[in-house]
Amino acid sequence: MTGVCFPLPAARYPGHMITTVDRPRPEQGTLRQRRLRRATARGYLMCPPEHFTVSYAINPWMRPEEPASAGVALRQWARLRQTYLDLGHDVRVIEPVAGLPDMVFAANGATVVGGTVLGARFRYPQRAAEAAAYLAWFRAGGYADVRVPEHVNEGEGDVLFTGRALLAGHGFRTAAAVAGELAAVFGVPVISVRLVDPRFYHLDTALCVLDADTAMYYPDAFDDASRAAIARQFTELIEATDSDAEVLGLNAVSDGRHVVLPAQAAGLAAQLAARGFEPVPVDMSELLKGGGGPKCCTLELRPARSA
Ligand code: ARG
Repeated sequence: MTGVCFPLPAARYPGHMITTVDRPRPEQGTLRQRRLRRATARGYLMCPPEHFTVSYAINPWMRPEEPASAGVALRQWARLRQTYLDLGHDVRVIEPVAGLPDMVFAANGATVVGGTVLGARFRYPQRAAEAAAYLAWFRAGGYADVRVPEHVNEGEGDVLFTGRALLAGHGFRTAAAVAGELAAVFGVPVISVRLVDPRFYHLDTALCVLDADTAMYYPDAFDDASRAAIARQFTELIEATDSDAEVLGLNAVSDGRHVVLPAQAAGLAAQLAARGFEPVPVDMSELLKGGGGPKCCTLELRPARSA
């Protein structure tokens, strides 16, 4: 399914509050202890896993010899989509292509900031054809500024927007050289970070931006310089434990208040709740067999800023 998705309704984007924050009650502590978290309505692109299977291995999570069910994946995916709708977000759907079993991982399809789209260019040939399918969706959807990439980049899997800057992960998939391209295309500062643990092969498996000042991450997934760079970007950082990182708990989607994350990451959910976020657990266990979680299945469509 394609469809005109721009301009998004001006009244709702960007920055429209969809949740009013709780007033502090005595048992919740004071305002100083509990920061107010504000949700804003988002636009997401998702791809149903109709052709999902694990037939090759391009990350350590994938085991082609173990069965993976497209039916189970579809049910989990449908719940994720419904979760976003229930939170007040707008969800667009791209038609899946037979023979591209990883196309469900829409985060890898592009990077979209301020209505500008930078297409993806995949590291491995098994996923290469997804790039054109996603580019075609954006072109058909009325996006005026759609760029074909120069360097290998796996979209929002490795390129995360903080609200002010882009964090670009490299080491396994996206080329380090993409930093200059991102700065030129989007006109925002770009901070390169290096991933060093193959289990966390995309940046969105190791770090999640919760809001412009806050992130959660797994320090061991990065080299020292990158940890320092991350510490400079955010005033508040939540560190994931080994066990939460190992279920891809950081592969989460935040609207500023609600954080949709893998249900198995119970410790992370508790840490988020303690900081005033609302964890929204989802079961993505079948997609995890492909090396993905909720964030991998979700590409954020950030519209042009209205004046
Ligand atoms: N099997 C896919 C791959 O290895 C999983 C992609 C997960 N996507 C993500 N944004 N981390 O490419």
